[in-house]
Amino acid sequence: MFKSSFKHYKTRSVEPDLSEVIDFDNCDKNIGDALQSRLELPVTIGDSTISPPPFLQPLTKWRCYDLAKHSGLMVIRNPFTNLGQRYWIARCLRDYPCAPNIVNLNEDLFLPAARANWWSELQSCPDTQRAHRLKVAMRWTTLGYHHNWNTKVYDEEMHSPFPQDLSKMCEFFATVLGHSNYASQAAIVNYYPIGSTLSGHTDHSEPNQTAPLFSFSFGQSCIFLIGGRTLDEKPTALYLRSGDVLIMSNESRLCYHAVPRVMKASEEPWSSIDDNTDDLANHSDNLALDIDLYRRVNDKDFWLPFGNYVKDSRINMNVRQVL
Ligand code: OGA
Ligand code: MN
Repeated sequence: MFKSSFKHYKTRSVEPDLSEVIDFDNCDKNIGDALQSRLELPVTIGDSTISPPPFLQPLTKWRCYDLAKHSGLMVIRNPFTNLGQRYWIARCLRDYPCAPNIVNLNEDLFLPAARANWWSELQSCPDTQRAHRLKVAMRWTTLGYHHNWNTKVYDEEMHSPFPQDLSKMCEFFATVLGHSNYASQAAIVNYYPIGSTLSGHTDHSEPNQTAPLFSFSFGQSCIFLIGGRTLDEKPTALYLRSGDVLIMSNESRLCYHAVPRVMKASEEPWSSIDDNTDDLANHSDNLALDIDLYRRVNDKDFWLPFGNYVKDSRINMNVRQVL
């Protein structure tokens, strides 16, 4: 069942039927028994006096959903400001793929310089064909505890510093959602050129499976499938769009999920910028933001190459607590 749904949404020869895909922007549509419901944040914490980081909208504007059929799965529909989206997109492209973080780029095909600093190599590559190859070859980078894909365990020996800004952001979400003692320890950033997919899997390598897993989507949209504990169950399909935060905790952490399709978004919130961009002063210290980057993504010329990248790609940051 999972595999046939995956195939259905992946198909490129015909336009697949998307009528069963849950769309959080069109919530009057009750799709079968997968009906989504709007959730209230835990009252004590969803307090309008909590001031979120500058890259997020006020809590009173957040729209949170859960799915009746998938316990523990929650989606916050784009709580980011447009500038906030730009900041995280730039971090994922310019900074996170740099050594000592590990990238998928193959040693036989790419020079050490490209594997150590992919974005800067890409920007300085004069040959457009080579640049295209380098661009689409980047599929993931891992941060913090690196997952060993062969043994499927986290290697305590293979560990690079976890980006403080990302960890602070996840801590903020964890607090708002009522998860105490959460710590970000490992992340994978996935890069999806349109046409690429991620096949069905469960994330079961983390010894601590009660901690929530945070998944942030930026750039182009995708169809996300969430199924059951086995591949026999028919998955639910939903759209994830730029800025959406998907949280998997408890039961949903053990369930198969996949990305069968990355598709052009109908809106590109990162293309315009918000009016109010300068309340950084009070926040910056405890958020570990790269203030210089935060200011520069506002600049048209600085932003241009990042904007070009996300014109035909999706980025996903998938953050976990390991221990
Ligand atoms: C993962 C994952 C989903 C996505 O990296 O384990 O499930 O939305 N990513 O890209
Ligand atoms: Mn996963």
